[in-house]
Amino acid sequence: MPIKNRVSELHAEITAWRRDIHEHPETMYDTVRTSALVADKLREFGCDEVVEGIGRTGVVGIIKGRMDTRGHVVGLRADMDALPILEATGLPYASKVAGKMHACGHDGHTAMLLGAAKYLAETRNFDGTVAVVFQPAEEGGAGGEAMVKDGLIERFGIKEIYGMHNMPGLPLGTFSIKPGAFYAATDNFTVDVVGKGSHAARPHAGVDTTVVASHIVLALQTIASRNADPLQSLVVSVTSFRTSSDAYNVIPEHVELRGTVRTFDKAIRALAEERFKAIVTATATAFGATANIDYQRGYPSMVNAETETGFAAEVAQRISGKPVVNAPAIMGGEDFAYMLEACPGAYIQIGNGDTADVHHPLYNFNDEAIPHGTSYWAELVETRMPAG
Ligand code: NI
Repeated sequence: MPIKNRVSELHAEITAWRRDIHEHPETMYDTVRTSALVADKLREFGCDEVVEGIGRTGVVGIIKGRMDTRGHVVGLRADMDALPILEATGLPYASKVAGKMHACGHDGHTAMLLGAAKYLAETRNFDGTVAVVFQPAEEGGAGGEAMVKDGLIERFGIKEIYGMHNMPGLPLGTFSIKPGAFYAATDNFTVDVVGKGSHAARPHAGVDTTVVASHIVLALQTIASRNADPLQSLVVSVTSFRTSSDAYNVIPEHVELRGTVRTFDKAIRALAEERFKAIVTATATAFGATANIDYQRGYPSMVNAETETGFAAEVAQRISGKPVVNAPAIMGGEDFAYMLEACPGAYIQIGNGDTADVHHPLYNFNDEAIPHGTSYWAELVETRMPAG
């Protein structure tokens, strides 16, 4: 079965919501207007329950089917936050907030899930309960973790949960998915290398942190090349190198290094952290300097459950009418990882067609993807929990 007829009828309305959200981007947990818009719509659709304030500005809508013989609850999740980017699309509905922009398509994700909520509340053609989950702060704020910590899964009895993200470059009307580890664990570090400042003409009087930090940067490359199993994925990137002096003739007392470590496997993640700390500390010591390390574990690796991935792919293929693409793993992070750690489920990518990439000032969510995404959500529920 392709696009659902009722969803086609809703296409213009869902597009209008999407563009309204696009005009009013909000970042991190400050999704006040968006959360209120979502909650108002869910109440208007006749959801059985609408709960605000889960994970600060997260919203959950509960929709009960015509029957509930199995006591099953399926969660469907969308993200609502925008990015701190100055929009350059020149669209008539471009961002009205300078420096903020829906450059990752979360406006589209929110609108598509609202469309599905409207359809499901109207038709109730399933046996069980649906929880539509709208989260803030996907872009680096761990809003998904905040919702899980606020009891999202237990409170609503969610047994399995599904997520969706648009993918520029993937043809419109096409889906892609991958079982197992899909997105990377994202850990960040800051290192303060402390030496002894001196006149640059008298290096023997100081401990030169630029030299020490340079050795550290090079030595860190051996974690991926010499410590990790070459068949495992690991990235160690130093992205910032700042000395405490701008002068030509001063040896700086401090150098601050920043960067990120990306992994899929839990053991490799632990190995990378252990080797990182050992290399930084020992290299600094070898040159007579010290290093203060702030190593922050971020999002865990996002792992799609096998069974639910197969099921999601089957539903997507029915909606799309085309084979579902085998997605490659991605070294980027995804906050949905916390929800998938709390219960089984699957995250799927939906084609955005030939558009600018996400996080680019010219990016725009493709409204033509809406019928596919909303139909996927509706079909997923009706297939997983068929009525009578
Ligand atoms: Ni995103």
